[in-house]
Amino acid sequence: MLVDNIRDRYQAAGHDHLLTFWSTLPDSERESLSHQLENLDIDRVNRIYKKAIASEKEAADPEPIEPLPVGACESVVNDPANEKRWCSEGLEAIARGEVGVLLMAGGQGTRLGSSAPKGCYDIGLPSHKSLFQYQAERIARLQVVAEKECNKSAGSVVIPWYVMTSGPTRRETEAYFAKNNFFGLSSKNVVFFEQGTLPCLTAEGKIMLESTSRVAVAPDGNGGLYAATRAPLSKSNSSTVLSDLTDRGVLYVHAYCVDNCLVKVADPVFLGYCISKQADCAAKVVPKTSPSENKPNFVTPRLESSLSTPPTSPTTSTRRAISNPVESFEDDLAFHIARKKIPTIDLETGKAVKPTKPNGMKLELFVFDVFPFTKRFAVLEVARNEEFSPLKNAPGTGADDPETSRRDLLSQHKRFLERAGAQVKDGVEIELSPRVSYAGEGLEFVKGKTFTKSGYVENPEELDALL
Ligand code: UTP
Repeated sequence: MLVDNIRDRYQAAGHDHLLTFWSTLPDSERESLSHQLENLDIDRVNRIYKKAIASEKEAADPEPIEPLPVGACESVVNDPANEKRWCSEGLEAIARGEVGVLLMAGGQGTRLGSSAPKGCYDIGLPSHKSLFQYQAERIARLQVVAEKECNKSAGSVVIPWYVMTSGPTRRETEAYFAKNNFFGLSSKNVVFFEQGTLPCLTAEGKIMLESTSRVAVAPDGNGGLYAATRAPLSKSNSSTVLSDLTDRGVLYVHAYCVDNCLVKVADPVFLGYCISKQADCAAKVVPKTSPSENKPNFVTPRLESSLSTPPTSPTTSTRRAISNPVESFEDDLAFHIARKKIPTIDLETGKAVKPTKPNGMKLELFVFDVFPFTKRFAVLEVARNEEFSPLKNAPGTGADDPETSRRDLLSQHKRFLERAGAQVKDGVEIELSPRVSYAGEGLEFVKGKTFTKSGYVENPEELDALL
């Protein structure tokens, strides 16, 4: 019988406790549990667990940090001389249709505590636009900027948007985009795909049950994107992200995280920088606010700068970087262990357990784990206040929360107006639609004006009402 085969396999691997409640389950639940167990590569899970534990021990005694290779790091903050040139190069690549963006939106946003996918979150802007909408409108605006800069006809430039979701976020994310008519983008240029999951484990490496008939699983980290780009887009569509990139002739991919309200999606300056460096892979970085700033350092033992990357690091990779160095990815890399509160089942009683402290672990790869595998790596330092304000924590936390996101975005819009030569009275808050300006461009007409009223504008003409 099928279940006997499964039991033998799981017994040999040390996980036959997953069948503890088998004899009490109705047929439908037996079917779903056996389906889940059949599709799980249990030996791989054991391998990943062993490696993760060994690597965690090694990390307690890290290798000495080495500087970045000479010439691999530049800064638009300290040396803006090349910015214009990079921007033109980036816009040209966009206009040639060589640029795509890849959004990592498979996380569960547990710290924020919202039940909807994080990209749907309203950070309290006057427009009440969500993070997804901001990103979509920046893509739309940048397409127009590239068309104008490179004398292309209106509507001819496309930046395809690859949206990585996960089991917990896919359905709601797709429904949210459809309900909002893809925020004005063409749905054929928005490609959803799904990252993998891994079972949650106890501290001893035993797979946890979420209910008597379901294994507890979690997305495999934002580094799951590499494997996900090689997997079929859906059950009914055998194309993959990689095949779609090839079909469209995309050469450069800007990957970014969903929760940075300041993200310059497909940033032409960064793209131009990467192209000029002929980088396989690159990352933007901002200086740490303090040596102990609690942000993951993207740097590897062999690559260090005094900078920390946004954990929502805008990373640009060429397609080569996505496809080649990661073929042996899982063999060479260790998953990271995240100790979390994981709702589970008491194996003695079958009763649900809602833990109040971490009781298990999720195994995750990080997007930046591939950096040591790239042949030509580059880093660009950018200004934190222009590019990085992540939404991590619940309202009222005081750091990286909805209030700081709102504050940082509105301050940026004030700077856009001031840089264009306008004055904005103290206390006045003006929100500019990304369709008005992507990075401060196109506002020359406000020169000499003084804004005295707060408000939100969808078109440049509406600004006069705020004088
Ligand atoms: P975080 O590691 O900050 O996780 O993700 P999170 O899900 O947003 O929040 P917490 O830790 O549960 O509170 C950084 C970025 O990586 C994506 C997230 O969606 C976010 O854009 N991510 C994270 C994935 O795409 N997949 C994952 O498995 C994990």
